[in-house]
Amino acid sequence: MRITGKTKVAGIFGFPVSHTLSPVIQNAAFEEKGLDFVYLPFPVEPSGLKNATEGIRALNLVGVNVTIPHKESIVDYMDELSPEVKVMGAVNTVVNREGKLVGYNTDWRGFIKSLQEEGVSLRGKNALLLGAGGAALSVCFALINEGIGRIVLTNRTFSRAKNLARKLEKISNKTNFEVIEFEKRNYFSQKDNIDFLVNATSLGMNETDPLPVNLEQFPPSLYVYDVIYNRETELLKQAKKLGMRCQGGFKMLVYQGALAFELWTGEKAPVEKMKAVAKKQLGI
Ligand SMILES: NC(=O)c1ccc[n+]([C@@H]2O[C@H](COP(=O)([O-])OP(=O)(O)OC[C@H]3O[C@@H](n4cnc5c(N)ncnc54)[C@H](OP(=O)(O)O)[C@@H]3O)[C@@H](O)[C@H]2O)c1
Repeated sequence: MRITGKTKVAGIFGFPVSHTLSPVIQNAAFEEKGLDFVYLPFPVEPSGLKNATEGIRALNLVGVNVTIPHKESIVDYMDELSPEVKVMGAVNTVVNREGKLVGYNTDWRGFIKSLQEEGVSLRGKNALLLGAGGAALSVCFALINEGIGRIVLTNRTFSRAKNLARKLEKISNKTNFEVIEFEKRNYFSQKDNIDFLVNATSLGMNETDPLPVNLEQFPPSLYVYDVIYNRETELLKQAKKLGMRCQGGFKMLVYQGALAFELWTGEKAPVEKMKAVAKKQLGI
């Protein structure tokens, strides 16, 4: 990598941020396209978020990605919001347009692209969604935009699932929303007609994590999506054993990054290169 006086700087705000794969993926993409850009990790504590965001403008950064725990709080510091952020209230990509900070969210589009690549259609389907955090919000927003018929929400902390459902009801009056207690997630039957299941909890990140849900109760036609990207989770292993179609969060991660790259550079992202670099880094 060659840093020059003209090098443009992007980066990621998070806390902690040391685990992020984005610098490796984005820097490889800049290099592949011959762009004089660099991407850096910025460990930004919650108390420093306002100043750090002001720093995007002051330091003339081209923009940043935003990860846990800042996706919702940074919304207040944006000058302009993309239409999806106005609805979702969560930003994962900031673009600095000549001093004007514009907040975007590419997570949900990354999720859709990963499914399109596998030829999966969601229109009119019934989904079970585990989790109620940032990933769950992005996934639900994507499901709604793709015309899903019904989403059954469940989360360890029931009140968070309820709050998410309330937020989603304001976004769509075409989708049916249902909230069930987390203990009930292992008691579905054929008549519940669940055909799409998403794990949007952090269960599965560690080898010792329990299964977020037992798939044996679902038909083999179920499509299983696990947003965890750092390993092949026990959930995905069980899905494969039961003959179910499935995918992990790896492509969602790459596509959300590719879309951010395109917003900052105005160039088409080298997606295959980004996938290859991420795979190598993860050892998958
Ligand atoms: N593939 C991608 O591109 C992508 C994008 C974003 C996130 N992710 C991944 O998605 C996961 C969730 O991220 P997030 O941003 O949504 O985090 P978050 O906002 O902190 O939410 C975490 C979720 O996991 C649940 N959870 C945590 N520990 C649990 C446990 N022991 N048992 C049951 N539920 C548990 C939480 O439930 P409570 O509400 O009860 O705490 C909450 O619903 C992370 O692993 C992250 O790496 C992937």
